[in-house]
Amino acid sequence: MRLIMIDEYNDKTMQLARPVYDRHRRVLLAAGRTIHPKYLERLRQMDIKYLFVDDFISEGITMEELMDMPSWMEATEIVQKAFEDVKANKPFNVRELQKLAVKLVDEVSRRKMIIIIPSTSLAAELRPYAHAVNVALLSLQLGKQLRLNGLQMHDLAMGALLHDIGKAVEGDEHHAIKGFEYLRKNREISLLSAHVAYQHHEAFNGEGAPRKVRHKEIHQYAQICGIANRFENLISEEGIPPHEAMEALMAKSNIDFAQDLVRLFVNTIPSYPPGAKVKMSDGREAIVTKIVNHMQRPYIRYLSTNEEISLAEKPNLLIISVTDKDKK
Ligand SMILES: [Fe+2]
Ligand SMILES: [Fe+2]
Repeated sequence: MRLIMIDEYNDKTMQLARPVYDRHRRVLLAAGRTIHPKYLERLRQMDIKYLFVDDFISEGITMEELMDMPSWMEATEIVQKAFEDVKANKPFNVRELQKLAVKLVDEVSRRKMIIIIPSTSLAAELRPYAHAVNVALLSLQLGKQLRLNGLQMHDLAMGALLHDIGKAVEGDEHHAIKGFEYLRKNREISLLSAHVAYQHHEAFNGEGAPRKVRHKEIHQYAQICGIANRFENLISEEGIPPHEAMEALMAKSNIDFAQDLVRLFVNTIPSYPPGAKVKMSDGREAIVTKIVNHMQRPYIRYLSTNEEISLAEKPNLLIISVTDKDKK
């Protein structure tokens, strides 16, 4: 299995590996079949950017680093429910969200790494909620690396899940303040989680929003969420491959984000996820098959010979580009 941009889909060589859902979270296209051109057009109209496919070159690649699709969809639904309640001026179910936070903390704790499913693999209506789930997963992966304890991880998860809740209170503008004001009134939610919403658009150098606080004045959880949020937007909305998104984050070290946190993030989230087609420094094409220990040095399999090697053991062999555009 591998993840492709929708423009790369080729119905002669690829089958859908994960279902595509409509905006009501119903299965629109089931896994295991090819996509009829008519449906492909429909997916384009829905602005779906990514598909999971099975094909010859991705044979044997399992992508078990992904959260399973039903759990991810369920998580998205819980966040959606909370946002809709807030929009309707109803109190949202904090318990449900806390249960989800526990589940996500558990998910991240027992996995070595996390690869997110881009929220743009879903219908536009569901994306803001899948975005929140992804930001929570990425934040927790960083929190794990920082050895946060269980309670800290829980507060971080709640903050990340609700970081954009202000958008449900009053739309995009001022959503950080609105979210903070909304969350801090709720006694069941930690003030630290509320601060994640408040400060997730602040910048390390003090040029962010809404209060232009800087450096240590920005709570660590909010800095973590800020990095995860930027990364998720680059991957999903902008359709940028992970290694380029990493470079974009590094370029913002000590400008938007604390350098040590960016470094930690880069070292804990794979730049070349399994299924990525790559060009190697020896000129040959390969596919990433798995990541065992080193996030930047995965296993690859040459397309021409099927020979699989670990880049961790070949320090001189480099990935020079990601060749994501399949020519039909
Ligand atoms: Fe935001
Ligand atoms: Fe966000």
